[in-house]
Order: sequence, then structure tokens, then C-alpha cells
Amino acid sequence: MSEELSTNSYQSQLFSERNARKTDFPIFNNYKHRHGQPLIYLDSAASAQKPAAVISALSDFYLNNYANIHRGAYNLSAEATDLFEASRRKVAKFIGAHSEKEIVFTRGATEAINLVAHSYLAPKLQPADEILISEMEHHANIVPWRILCDETGARLVTIPITDEGVFDFAAFGKLLNNKTKLVAVTQASNVLGTITPLRQIVCSAHALQIPVLIDGAQSTPHLPVNVIESGCDFFVFSGHKIYGPTGTGVLYGKSKLLSEMIPYQGGGDMITEVTFKKVTFQPPPQRFEAGTPDIAGVVALSSAIDYLEEIGMEEVHALDRALLDYAMEKFGEFPDFRIIGQAPHKVGVISFCHDNIHAHDIGTLLNEFGIAIRTGHHCAQPLMQRFSVPGTARISFGLYNDITDIDCFFKALAKVKKFLS
Ligand code: ALA
Repeated sequence: MSEELSTNSYQSQLFSERNARKTDFPIFNNYKHRHGQPLIYLDSAASAQKPAAVISALSDFYLNNYANIHRGAYNLSAEATDLFEASRRKVAKFIGAHSEKEIVFTRGATEAINLVAHSYLAPKLQPADEILISEMEHHANIVPWRILCDETGARLVTIPITDEGVFDFAAFGKLLNNKTKLVAVTQASNVLGTITPLRQIVCSAHALQIPVLIDGAQSTPHLPVNVIESGCDFFVFSGHKIYGPTGTGVLYGKSKLLSEMIPYQGGGDMITEVTFKKVTFQPPPQRFEAGTPDIAGVVALSSAIDYLEEIGMEEVHALDRALLDYAMEKFGEFPDFRIIGQAPHKVGVISFCHDNIHAHDIGTLLNEFGIAIRTGHHCAQPLMQRFSVPGTARISFGLYNDITDIDCFFKALAKVKKFLS
């Protein structure tokens, strides 16, 4: 362990005993595994567990404040609206946006990307135009663009990655051209863990006036995010991966771009006037929020951000990195497991495979030890093809994990290997 890590009190605690923060998450006390094993949750990249503060915020809202928003003539509705809009301000501050008007609430990162595909890019796209994405994208950042290309005759062009899983910046530079209408890349891969060079990507694209969308679904739980510093035009993330409720997500878009965009869906709350002949729309962000949103989810998302900010995103990142370094080193004792994704800058996600043991069998047997991991293609089939594997086993870390979790995982992995070999 480095000097720097050992002087940090939170990390010292992490390395010496159980992570005290685990008790903030009721599931670790409540979940009863059928063999009586304690839950070791190593699947935060799929979805993070919820701290009591977020669960309470959800139930408090339904118990004490619930009403529909932006509609009622009564105090309860006005107060619910205030809580909802306060959450929008909190999200804006959390990701460093200029204004809460740049924050659109969606059902998740997937819906946010689909919104940009439909409302921003579709009206502009011509046959032979190009959309640039990387080889390490999640299906959420592939399929909407593939659909759009099929509809318009545009081309989906992929930026290669190296065998270590690093974004190939030199190749990216060569692919940018005046036909490129959008660059859409992840800030952190959900399979490899790779952190991409965001600022450089944005600078290169902007030099040719090409807008950039960043998929922050896997970076926002682990890294400080600042959309102004990165300069990106669109940024998306999911609430459930940052310890908030499912069904909540965020699209950040620069004001100028959002104000030029057509609505994504039509319905209540996004209009100023409706006749059978003509409809006029609200300005952003309401223009993109048709119908009743997940009001309670958005309100509780605010508590998830409070939770993260109380710890501090630098600290969150340091914890993630410490867990990652420890686990990567331990994998050194298991040379027959191949790690897919060896980039120097990673979030706490490790994908691995074994030549003779199917990833699914690893996951199924680890489950017997109370260890929850994800196996399969991780919604990134083209990336599996890139590495010529049908799927991988994947561990990923959250704020509740500690060294004991990782040690238990490796002890169980050794038994799984012995059993299956
Ligand atoms: N995108 C999520 C994952 O990587 C569901 O598991």
C-alpha cells in the first residue's frame, strides 16, 4: 500500500476492518442468503445498493409530501414541486452545470441518450453523415445511434481500443472529419473499467465544431464530474448507479443546444398551449419531460447526492481506486484468470475469464458463498467480440465494499476453481 493511501483515515479503516459505511445500507443486515452467508455485493456497476437515507427520503416523500407537481392549486402540490425542483438544482451543482435549466430528468441514462438521438441528432442527420462511438460502448450508447443510422443512411463509425482496453486517441483523431455529426463516448467502461480522456476528446471534437455526448453512467458513481471543465455538450447518467432510486436519470445539455431541440415525447406538462391545430412547447427542461415523472425518485435522488457529497467525490474516487488496486494485485495470485481491461486509469470494475471455466459457472458457484457478481456480455456484445470472448465474469465496487469482501471473493474463487477444474 502506498504512503498516500495509508495516511488516509477512511482508507486505513478500509484496510484494517469492515467498512463502517456498510451499516448505512440496510440490505447488508436484512438480506438472508439461503445458506446463511453474509451478502458480499460486488455488482455495483449493474446497480448500487441504497443507503437508509435514500430509502427514508423515498418513503418520507410518500408519507408526508406526495402530490403531483407543476399542477395543483394547493400547498401540497406546490411543496412537492419545490422538492422536485430543488433536486434539479442539486443535480446541476453536483455535475457543475451552469444552470438547473440544463438538467432534464429521464428514466435513466438510456432514455437520456435516446432523447438526444431523437431530439438533437435525428433532425440534422443526412445520408453519409457519421456518428463516432468507441468500441467499448454499452448497448445504450450503440443501439440508439444504430437505429438512427438505419433510418437516415448515416454511418456509425467506431473508435478502436487497444488490447489493454485503452481508448485509442490517435485513431480517434484520424476518424474525426467534417462528416462527423456527433461523438458519443463513455467516460468509464462498464466492462473494462477504462476511464477515457474526456477533456482531450472534447477538445479534439470541438476543434472541428463537433458536439460530444458523454455516457457518465459508470463514471458518475466513482469520479468527480464537472461538465463545464470537460466542455462536453451532453452528459448522461443514471440515478440508480449513484445510490439513488431506479427509474431516475439525467440528461445535461448545454442551454443553447437544448433550446434548439424538438420535444422527445408529447403530453402533459411540456406544453404552453394546445389546440387541435397547434401546440406550443415549454422551454427546456420541461419541454422534454412529458407526463408525470418519477417524482419521489427524483426527490430521493437528491438524498443520494447528499450522501455522496458528505463523503466527498475525491474520497469516493480514492476508495474505489484503493479497492481496485488491491483486487488487481490479488488477481496476480490467479494467473489462469485473464483480466479483460488493463488500462492504467480505471474505475472499480474488473472483468475476467478463464479458458476452461465458463463465466456463468463462476457466478453461479460464487452465489453459493453469498457473493453477488455479474456474468455475461454486460450489454456490450461488440466489446465481447473485440476481445473474442462470449462473456466475462465481472466484479465491481461500491461505497460499502472493503478488503474483507475482496478477500472473501478470492477465497471463494479459489474453491470454485478447484471444484470446476
Ligand atoms: N449497465 C449495467 C451493467 O453494466 C446494467 O451491469
